[in-house]
Amino acid sequence: MENSLNKTSFIEKFKTEVKIASPGRINLIGEHTDYNKGYVMPTAIDKKIFFDFRKNESDDICKIYSLTFDSYYEFNIHSFSKSDDSWKNYLLGVIDEIQKLGKKLKGFDCIIESELPIGAGISSSAALECGFAGGLNQLFNLDLSKQDIVELSQRAENNFVGSNCGIMDQFASVMSRKDHIILLDCKSLDTEFIPADFKNCKLLLLNTNVSHSIADSEYNTRRAECETAVRKIQQKYPEATSLREVSFFMLEEFKSQLPKKTYQRCVYVLRENDRVERAAGTMKSGKLKEFGELMYQSHAGLQHNYEVSCPELDFMVEYSRDKDFIYGSRMMGGGFGGCTINLIETDKIEAYSEEISKAYFKEFNRKMDVISVSAGEGTIIEKFKA
Ligand code: GLA
Repeated sequence: MENSLNKTSFIEKFKTEVKIASPGRINLIGEHTDYNKGYVMPTAIDKKIFFDFRKNESDDICKIYSLTFDSYYEFNIHSFSKSDDSWKNYLLGVIDEIQKLGKKLKGFDCIIESELPIGAGISSSAALECGFAGGLNQLFNLDLSKQDIVELSQRAENNFVGSNCGIMDQFASVMSRKDHIILLDCKSLDTEFIPADFKNCKLLLLNTNVSHSIADSEYNTRRAECETAVRKIQQKYPEATSLREVSFFMLEEFKSQLPKKTYQRCVYVLRENDRVERAAGTMKSGKLKEFGELMYQSHAGLQHNYEVSCPELDFMVEYSRDKDFIYGSRMMGGGFGGCTINLIETDKIEAYSEEISKAYFKEFNRKMDVISVSAGEGTIIEKFKA
């Protein structure tokens, strides 16, 4: 139900009971490995979505105001259906998953404001899901652990929104620690927090400002291709339940039985997983140039084998290639648009940003955005007396 509302009075009279800051994430390396139960190296960033929650007197009416979209949304928490606005579906999905766990919700109001660009590949969707779930957990004392919040938010996206994403984005948004990168094993969910010490360098995101519409369907197709390969390989190796448990030797044995593209996808995943393990080692020992080289290799795999890049991303990565003050550059996230992540010497950032902005505009007649980020804390919760 879309209702008109006295916006000023709703916002001004809002007595916040729970406040949440829910961050976006970056991923240094390990792309499309999470749903193959491999390794990833993400962290939350210092850019967030902010939520204010309060209970209302009703049993089942939820009123949400998005300051970002200047849009009001009112619905019954016990009877709703999919919306045409994608941001609403992330929230509805979370409510659905919380209720499936047998947890009781009542009427509440919420104001949301985001500083995360949408479609930039920094996971505004996971920030939205996890922040919303975290806020409801506090508001109604639902007794959900951080891991419950991560997992139900992922299920919300899989089941309600219809994107078969892995667990990386939600995990990073909730579990990150300031100034650290997570080395996450997506099979066991074991974590190691590696200090984000980039010495004379910084991480720089360059936003292509494109998000190609095939992204969602191609994402689900890639995941299905990986799962098809695993099912085939399982005929001989039943213990292999994901590509994580498939070795290069096993994959070669099945090469002739897999469609060429499927084989190519698997090669990428196995190599990328291997790269993440090596990248974690180079990061720990401060070998940033070696780390950067692995980023370039990751991009090449995503571009040529996994085929989830796009001309705009490839242009940016290629442009950085001969600049010795850029140690590494790659597309980040699901692909088909969004940002590249670059490891660049700090004192070169300004001049390089200007130079590549001009070159990008000349090539695509499109503006590019520079987003400087640092490794931030996971979801932050403040509770006030009602
Ligand atoms: C999206 C998904 C993640 C992950 C990345 C690719 O961000 O939400 O689960 O699969 O793409 O690494």
